[in-house]
Amino acid sequence: MKWIEVKTYEEMSRIAAELFIKQLKANPKSVLGLATGGTPVGLYELLVAEVKANRLSFKDVTTFNLDEYVGLPQENSASYWMYMHDTLFNHIDIKEENIHLPNGVAPNLHAECSAYDKRIAAEGGIDLQLLGIGVNGHIGFNEPGTPFDSLTHVVELTESTRTENAIYFEEGAEMPTHAITMGIQSIMNAKEIVLLAFGERKLEAMEKLKEGKLTEDFPASQLTTHDNITIIYGGTK
Ligand code: GLP
Repeated sequence: MKWIEVKTYEEMSRIAAELFIKQLKANPKSVLGLATGGTPVGLYELLVAEVKANRLSFKDVTTFNLDEYVGLPQENSASYWMYMHDTLFNHIDIKEENIHLPNGVAPNLHAECSAYDKRIAAEGGIDLQLLGIGVNGHIGFNEPGTPFDSLTHVVELTESTRTENAIYFEEGAEMPTHAITMGIQSIMNAKEIVLLAFGERKLEAMEKLKEGKLTEDFPASQLTTHDNITIIYGGTK
């Protein structure tokens, strides 16, 4: 486990961007695992700037996102599909057919989940997985109590996560109760992982992660057993 402590959000984003750029230079056909939330926005901005400056290309890159809300169609402004397109995909040269997010409105959600892991495997697995972390230690939407050997599955969101994420929904909009998420095992299968965390509200989770006590009550703790993970974190925002 490699820990990199940073002073600013910009520094965290820059170091993360360097890891992604290095990965894409080494293998332009990389398979990336991507995350949503406020944390990776700075990283995505830097990657967009590299593509716009013709220094980086996603034309042969394949992506798999960690999660998606159940019941939100792609065109919903709070869907992760929309976040990813607004923040990254619409501004880079990635092919739409190489973009994968779980389909939260699939008629058979369980079939959608098992097909998602198969699609990842068919692409040769994830080369570099980006992660954020919830204040309760969730990764993707793997809430406390999720088995470490879980694959992509449907989860019921905890009250704390629903409250945390309510800011991304328009006023009065109903916040989903469930989501599809890559499981902890699906995440651990990635060849390399980079976890980003910034700000005071993430401090407690970072301390717990550093303690390194393996427990399903703190989903991120399983990451301590991965042999190629970098954690880039900082205290205040
Ligand atoms: C959501 C996402 C996670 C993300 C977390 C942290 O719950 N499902 O993948 O890591 O939020 O979000 P933020 O970066 O906004 O703090």
